[in-house]
Amino acid sequence: MARVAIVGATGAVGTTMLEILSERGHEPNELRLMASSRSAGRVIATKWGDVTIEDLATADPSGIEVALFSAGGGRSREFAPAFAASGAVVVDNSSAFRMDDQVPLIVSQVNDHAVADHHGIIANPNCTTMTLMMAAGPLHAAAGLRTMTATSYQSVSGSGQTGMDVLAHEIDVLGKDRELLAKGGWSEPGSDLYSRPIGFNVLPHAGSFAEAGYTDEEWKLVNETRKILEAPDVLVEPTCVRVPVMVGHGISATMHFERPVSVAEANEVLANAPGAQLWDDSKVPTPLDSAGIDDVLIGRVRQTLGEPGGISLWTVGDNLRKGAALNAVQIAELVLDTR
Ligand SMILES: NC(=O)c1ccc[n+]([C@@H]2O[C@H](COP(=O)([O-])OP(=O)(O)OC[C@H]3O[C@@H](n4cnc5c(N)ncnc54)[C@H](OP(=O)(O)O)[C@@H]3O)[C@@H](O)[C@H]2O)c1
Repeated sequence: MARVAIVGATGAVGTTMLEILSERGHEPNELRLMASSRSAGRVIATKWGDVTIEDLATADPSGIEVALFSAGGGRSREFAPAFAASGAVVVDNSSAFRMDDQVPLIVSQVNDHAVADHHGIIANPNCTTMTLMMAAGPLHAAAGLRTMTATSYQSVSGSGQTGMDVLAHEIDVLGKDRELLAKGGWSEPGSDLYSRPIGFNVLPHAGSFAEAGYTDEEWKLVNETRKILEAPDVLVEPTCVRVPVMVGHGISATMHFERPVSVAEANEVLANAPGAQLWDDSKVPTPLDSAGIDDVLIGRVRQTLGEPGGISLWTVGDNLRKGAALNAVQIAELVLDTR
């Protein structure tokens, strides 16, 4: 494999990237790991030997061929253009460039063809959108998606390492007295990552509030769906919810198409969808089933009960893998295959 850099290498996504490069048998000609000044100098043991973390702010990108960025939008905006200018292809996990016309937004195995149009930066979609596209993409290709109402059930690892630490802490603190959870009287567990406690709770908004009462996560679901599917007129009704799950984002979606689609046809399309597994109702897929695996799991495929001819279904996927690190590595593989 090429000379590779992982930017944000100490984070939830960055560490998963290292695992995935190893699992997929890659042998980078050179591997550089970058993070903040807080981590600079730390030595990480990798399959390819010990690597010392570099401070992104002072790292020289010369010679890097593929840079997998996963250190937040601010860092991407500040440093990704310089990496691209020095010859690297940047695969960016943040939302910084996703809606830029010059930047392809790719769900590998759904719209791989878009890689041909890159100008040095390629964007990895939002983790919820990614998981849903693994089912919606093939159905759109078969029947033309017209409308989609989608509600996400997003795990705390979508907020990085801190999200997982906060959930573990709150489960520990609040779980000490079940009576208070059932009858009231619990005390704030003392975390401020989310607006309300996430332990033993559900937050009816994920992300920050933005236009028209929708959160930025919800707007990503609308805008990224349209860009990935090249379907600017698709009507998306999003609700993004945070749930007390460590890893695995689930999405319940109802879709209507340009023509009626039967359950039999949807099942046939989804059973053949690459990177996905269709499960029947005898073993419904849950976030726990999805954690640690590459495939997105699809289940509960039903005919709509209201407006006829549509399909309701459930998808769930590991947000750190297909939702982030795996897809980034798959994009890098596409880039290297087409060089
Ligand atoms: N978690 C997900 O499911 C998911 C899915 C899709 C996309 N993403 C995106 O991926 C990115 C990383 O997410 P994450 O979940 O891995 O977060 P995380 O666990 O909080 O890790 C953040 C990473 O960014 C680095 N970083 C922070 N500030 C930095 C700075 N000033 N300079 C250089 N590096 C800095 C951190 O390094 P230090 O350890 O040195 O602080 C760490 O390596 C975000 O843009 C996020 O939106 C996440």
